[in-house]
Amino acid sequence: MTVRSTTAESGLPAEFAVDPDWWRQAVVYQIYPRSFADADGNGIGDLQGVTSRVPYLRELGVDAVWLSPFYPSALADGGYDVDDYRDVDPRIGTLADFDAMAAALAAAGIKLIVDIVPNHTSDRHEWFREALTAPPHSPARDRYIFRDGTGPDGSLPPADWRSAFGGPAWTRVPDGQWYLHTFTREQPDLNWDHPQVREDFLRTLRFWSDRGVHGFRVDVANGLVKDLPEKLPSQAELDAMPQDGSHPVLDRDEVHEVYEAWREVFDEYDPPRFGIAEAWVAPERRARYASPRGLGQAFNFDLLEADFDAGRFREIVTFNLASVRRVGSSSTWVLSNHDVVRHATRYGLPPAAGNEGRAGVRWLLNGGREPALDTGAGLRRARAATLFTLALPGSAYLYQGEELGLHEVADIPDGARQDPAFFRDREATVGRDGCRVPLPWSAEGPSYGFGPGEAHLPQPSWFADHSVAVQEEDPGSTLNLYRRALAHRRRLRAGESLEWVETGHEQVLAFRRPNGWLCVTNFGDSAVDLPEGEVVLTSRPLEGGRLPGATTAWLQT
Ligand code: NOJ
Repeated sequence: MTVRSTTAESGLPAEFAVDPDWWRQAVVYQIYPRSFADADGNGIGDLQGVTSRVPYLRELGVDAVWLSPFYPSALADGGYDVDDYRDVDPRIGTLADFDAMAAALAAAGIKLIVDIVPNHTSDRHEWFREALTAPPHSPARDRYIFRDGTGPDGSLPPADWRSAFGGPAWTRVPDGQWYLHTFTREQPDLNWDHPQVREDFLRTLRFWSDRGVHGFRVDVANGLVKDLPEKLPSQAELDAMPQDGSHPVLDRDEVHEVYEAWREVFDEYDPPRFGIAEAWVAPERRARYASPRGLGQAFNFDLLEADFDAGRFREIVTFNLASVRRVGSSSTWVLSNHDVVRHATRYGLPPAAGNEGRAGVRWLLNGGREPALDTGAGLRRARAATLFTLALPGSAYLYQGEELGLHEVADIPDGARQDPAFFRDREATVGRDGCRVPLPWSAEGPSYGFGPGEAHLPQPSWFADHSVAVQEEDPGSTLNLYRRALAHRRRLRAGESLEWVETGHEQVLAFRRPNGWLCVTNFGDSAVDLPEGEVVLTSRPLEGGRLPGATTAWLQT
């Protein structure tokens, strides 16, 4: 076995480069590269933009960056339609820019995780182009999931399945066959029974690991392996089938064999690479994706789907800590990402509207008008929830802009929208553009410091007040809260244990961590007394020494 080390390249202290468990308690910052920072002024964020902001990331105090797709793509789904897994989109940069960015992050002591999209390629990927020119039932078609149609002349789809963004999941090609796409028609699903598919992804994992990537966020990790019977079930039948490992399409048990093979590649490196599964599966089946024999970690989206409620938060924490302990992993905590309404906004909506389905969707459909959004309450709760999660054992995944307390941008004109979900299912959603609006770095300029020109999605005027430049000057800003919180968390290096402390209030949660760290969150409306201890950080000022509603305090005891 070859063991490849990054110590020499990065020039970092050996301790940093070789800790094989660095990811277990990491704070990971998600960058959606097209909306983070635009160095060349084409309106689209780029890798040089990321490099230019490494000092910002360092000052924020994150341990790692997770970069959403930056590969060549027609952007049918925000880059999750990949043309080539081993290259960079020319609008975003070059492989040399990637290397420069990886080196700058490494020099700042920040690890790098990239997104990998194995369930589907784009329809511009060389394999799919080859499949289209090859005849039906040919080996080239076998890398995807092609079927003959139904009906007397095969003009009906093989099944009535719906794609995740609305519309049919089977699309017909000119010679009459049909291919499966769980997402847009530009994202044909791969056939993971094909050995070349398996081998090619191993090559991709090595390609990026050799370039200094420390981990992989695995898109739709539960969807790769499928077992489709000759006579396909209907969508209604598919929906009714249990997702217990035997479902034809989702969360099949055999998918873990893929990740066991990936683990062998991960272990060729020092420190070993790791993966984090994006797998929307039943909570009790999630931990299997986090097995150390497989990827190592899995996203836990439970808090992201929960209302701001003490009972629900406690239940989620207890359940997740126990389930990852059983498989020898660590939990993850996520409040926002590029797919959901930002948490400051969700928490400012009445409970049912805030988190219904994939979060705040109904509100967005109304152009952000109804139900009324209480931006102040939303941000107060968001800050409290963030301090709560940052005090938990496990990794915290932050999404760019949440450290600025950004709200969802609800009023994007239809003509400026980009998300396929908007174009395909207008009845059900306006899509995810509102959390992908380019970041405001300064209060002025054509794109609030995002770049020298206009941004690819329109930014609202209220972005000026939320900009990094403005928040840096304000000691009470959300940015400064995140900076202080991450510095404190890093100092304490608190490990994995958590002990609940009874508070006597139904809406107040408290837990103790090693090294005298006590976290108290008041999910209610009225102020409560704090336990004994030195207050080191609060998500907003105390009221006469008492903890106000929607507030978290960290104490040293
Ligand atoms: C999950 C990604 O987070 C989302 O943005 C994307 O649309 C789908 N997977 C399909 O790749």
